[in-house]
Amino acid sequence: MRVIAIDGPAGSGKSTVARRVADALGLAYLDTGAMYRSVAFAALHAGIDPADADAVADLAGRVDIDVATRVTVDGVDATDAIRGPEVTTAVSTVAANPRVRAEMVKRQQAWAAAHDGGVAEGRDIGTVVFPNADLKVYLTASEDERARRRAQELGQPAYDQVAADIARRDKVDSTRAASPMMVADDALVIDTTGRTIDEIVQEVLSKL
Ligand code: DC
Repeated sequence: MRVIAIDGPAGSGKSTVARRVADALGLAYLDTGAMYRSVAFAALHAGIDPADADAVADLAGRVDIDVATRVTVDGVDATDAIRGPEVTTAVSTVAANPRVRAEMVKRQQAWAAAHDGGVAEGRDIGTVVFPNADLKVYLTASEDERARRRAQELGQPAYDQVAADIARRDKVDSTRAASPMMVADDALVIDTTGRTIDEIVQEVLSKL
């Protein structure tokens, strides 16, 4: 099976690039951030404090998550809610929970086996989930450009607020004890600042 790992911080362009690369290669695509967001959504929905590590981990073990075109969490359509401010605020705490991570990694590996490979994007895909991926890509971009892209995606809310939120999540995601966001030794690192999606997609495909 062929697996391509795409990692990077919020606004680095990884979702768009990962989707396009998957389409070009006829592979399945998995947004693992949507899985962590779904666990955060399920916790909030159940009235569980995202910081209650055991309760959230127990929930992660039993929640049914489907991240296809629509995101469904225990039968509830959470496609829009997982991108909302409540989930975005809670998700880094949930993603720092080691037992939640262990459960999600297991599901991600099962997903690849079931789809005979695929393109997965996240923060720990090349380092932890698929250390033997056929290609590992780490996308970055300047903080300013990442905040501008994210603000545009969200329909132009206050840029300052989006920039502050991205900086906060970067910090939590890269300093947590359990598989922090980092660049795999053998990853192709691409700075997407000022470059088009097409250029990045071509560069990734050229490495295969
Ligand atoms: O990519 P995103 O913004 O949708 O990710 C949501 C959060 O989930 C982000 O703050 C980091 C976390 N995450 C993670 O820890 N590991 C992954 N493989 C994917 C996302």
